[in-house]
Amino acid sequence: MEKTITLLPGDGIGPEVVTEATRVLDKIGIEFGHKFNYQTAAIGGTAVDQFEDPLPKETLDLCRESDAILLGAVGGPKWDSYPAHLRPEKGLLRIRKELQLFSNLRPVSIYNSLVSESTIKEEVVRGIDLLIVRELTGGLYFGEPSERLDVDGEEAAVDTLSYKRSEIERIVRMAFELAEVRGGKVMSVDKANVLESSRLWRQIANEIAEEFPNVTLEHMLVDNAAMQLIRNPRQFDVLVTENLFGDILSDEASMISGSLGLLPSASLSAEGPGIYEPIHGSAPDIAGKGLANPLATIASVAMMLKYAFKMELESEAIMDAINQALDSGVRTADLVYGNQEAVSTTEMTDTVLHYI
Ligand code: NAI
Ligand code: MG
Repeated sequence: MEKTITLLPGDGIGPEVVTEATRVLDKIGIEFGHKFNYQTAAIGGTAVDQFEDPLPKETLDLCRESDAILLGAVGGPKWDSYPAHLRPEKGLLRIRKELQLFSNLRPVSIYNSLVSESTIKEEVVRGIDLLIVRELTGGLYFGEPSERLDVDGEEAAVDTLSYKRSEIERIVRMAFELAEVRGGKVMSVDKANVLESSRLWRQIANEIAEEFPNVTLEHMLVDNAAMQLIRNPRQFDVLVTENLFGDILSDEASMISGSLGLLPSASLSAEGPGIYEPIHGSAPDIAGKGLANPLATIASVAMMLKYAFKMELESEAIMDAINQALDSGVRTADLVYGNQEAVSTTEMTDTVLHYI
């Protein structure tokens, strides 16, 4: 097959990990007889510097024309003081909205050889396999108003958490469809004891559950979910939640796997190309030093092959190769505890390529 992939390297370690992931794609192309064509476009701080726009129109056009999009990460201290519309993160929010990527799938599992190295007890994390389904185009990150204002003569600010019925229905339905072909359980996470938007979310989740007799639905408050993810993560199969809660819980869940540098994601719409991206940010503290773990982005490419191109075998070949690379003992710095030796970003990819 021949596929066109838009690369959005972005800022910080973004370009480093995207480069590594394309090396893996190229190897898959050779081994399985596919051709992957790349077109690179600017997003985030890099785009602000070049075009004074964190999401230039040309970038969006290229994305729309491609079969899938691979994103690194955006942001960094350089742009922190820029006005809201020129912030790198705005580019990310806008592209998610423009492409209607309402569903962000974040699988959480643990590679065999990392079980004994986890900061969480072995018996808690062994065999973990859960899927966080994060709503991505609504909630607090998009609600209006979101602005500075004056309240009683004092400086103040407001953000808005708002959801429409249709937005909740489609993400919860997606969670149920995924649960049907997984473990048959949906955990809907909200803050229904306090938030009205959560009470609507819970009501609609109960309605959708009626359509799926083979899937069980439970509800959990987000603060309890944060605790249960560390105490007993095995109780979860599919965890569905709103935008901000999903953002925070998935960073937390990355510690089940061992590092933020391991977790991939897929941001999908009802139709049109999806964005495949690591869940981590631009990690300015380690950018340009060859320290970044490329595995989250490489695993995101595996998700792309599976979800966008229906290349199941190719996707499995990547995940198997990651497993074998880690079995062979190589560790990037984020995975090293104690006096174990760390390998560089490129060396980690080299080892993965060796096993494909
Ligand atoms: P971050 O995810 O960039 O980094 C958090 C910590 O994890 C840092 O110590 C970093 O060195 C480490 N880390 C992250 N990815 C790693 C990798 N692949 N290998 C090894 N270590 C890794 O989050 P932080 O520091 O809160 O934010 C930095 C910038 O990234 C900010 O500007 C933020 O807005 C942006 N950001 C962008 C995201 C995106 O583009 N999707 C998501 C999250 C944050
Ligand atoms: Mg995050």
